[in-house]
Amino acid sequence: MEIRRIDSSYKDKIVEIFLMSFEYFEPEESEFFFSDPSLWKYVWGAFDDEKLVAAYISYKYLAKIRTKPFECRYVEAVATLPEYRNKGITKAILLKDIQEALQSGVNFLMLDPFKHDFYVRFGFGLGFESLDFKFDFSLLSDEIEEDNLNIVSGKLLNSAEMQELIEKARKVLWETSRYTEAIEINACSQEIFHMKDLFGAVAVDKAGMPHAMMVYRKKERKMKVSNFSFIDLAGLFALKRFMLNHRDQIATFEMNRMPPDFPVELFFHSRWQAGKDLKIEDASSRMVRILDPLPVIKELMNRSISETVVIKIKDKLLPQNNLTIEIGKGTARLSEAPNDLEITISDLTPLLTGRLSPTRLWRHGRLRTDSWKNVPWGISEVPEKVKVLESIFPPFITHNAN
Ligand SMILES: CC(C)(COP(=O)(O)OP(=O)(O)OC[C@H]1O[C@@H](n2cnc3c(N)ncnc32)[C@H](O)[C@@H]1OP(=O)(O)O)[C@@H](O)C(=O)NCCC(=O)NCCS
Repeated sequence: MEIRRIDSSYKDKIVEIFLMSFEYFEPEESEFFFSDPSLWKYVWGAFDDEKLVAAYISYKYLAKIRTKPFECRYVEAVATLPEYRNKGITKAILLKDIQEALQSGVNFLMLDPFKHDFYVRFGFGLGFESLDFKFDFSLLSDEIEEDNLNIVSGKLLNSAEMQELIEKARKVLWETSRYTEAIEINACSQEIFHMKDLFGAVAVDKAGMPHAMMVYRKKERKMKVSNFSFIDLAGLFALKRFMLNHRDQIATFEMNRMPPDFPVELFFHSRWQAGKDLKIEDASSRMVRILDPLPVIKELMNRSISETVVIKIKDKLLPQNNLTIEIGKGTARLSEAPNDLEITISDLTPLLTGRLSPTRLWRHGRLRTDSWKNVPWGISEVPEKVKVLESIFPPFITHNAN
């Protein structure tokens, strides 16, 4: 089995593999994605003689973790022809991709998987949170602060003004947001501008600076918002005013990929009323694979803590990551000292991103001082070294909007 990068001449063969692998794959909708030249540096194929039997795309992606930017690879469109599955082909491509990423100094892979546990076995962990909101129009409160912002709205397809405004808002979000905003290759960031049914709304001030943006579709009196991001509260209230102005067109809303600290109280007067309720569903999906733990620990740690903790990392896929690291006093270094704590590489992900605190990981038996059988669930003193690690990696609100 040969594994190598493939160029756009394999587009039709890839489409065939996706048609065999994904129920909802519509080649016409992906036409723009596949015809963008920025994509074709990043596509892998596996060959049985000259026959393409598996595909895997892993493109350059800038993402913030704890507000620090990192170059990552975003993996998608992983598929093997049914008759070639369970022969280790995806695993072999993943290992090649990791090797290349490491050679380019890239320390993270990210993806949104078809199911979680397939990727946990490869050392990925859930890194960022998102929520879906579903609610009736009647639950929106009419509380609106005077915001002095104007809304510019319209279809995204063929509208240079809307496209520019959305790009501008995303740029400000990348610079200012506490969340995990991302900068993708052109093929992905431009994809939404080629979808026929998408609308955008951007709240701008007198100087034309965006304060908030949303991207949505409308169908059968329902507004489905796929992105809702605000730079300040004025922006939040401006978009809420825009939604309230749909009183006679829209009966229900669905807002996807909302942050876990969204100010629900500023948006809704009640969580339920007259048989209608606000449904909040966990839709967290973004997984992260740490490829080289030492440099990213150094980069993300709180350097002001004067105590240290020795932690052992276990990685089944990448043996070079089975390391013991001393963390604290402003740095992290390899250590031969006996370890205080032990963690797998996939559980290191939520600890580093801040989604789960060391205390929570310890309570789950995932960050171990000794056997998980000794971890109490009730009132108990948290081990000293877990507290030290918590001061070095405090919990952090995580969210990926895109
Ligand atoms: C998921 C998929 C890409 C796996 O490809 P593959 O080439 O068969 O994967 P591998 O043979 O390298 O499997 C790697 C490991 O995962 C296991 N595995 C394979 N398919 C699995 C599945 N569907 N569920 C759980 N585990 C699976 C294998 O047993 C193997 O385990 P091991 O390393 O312990 O032996 C393939 O089944 C597929 O194309 N599915 C349909 C499309 C899809 O869902 N893609 C994922 C999009 S993110």
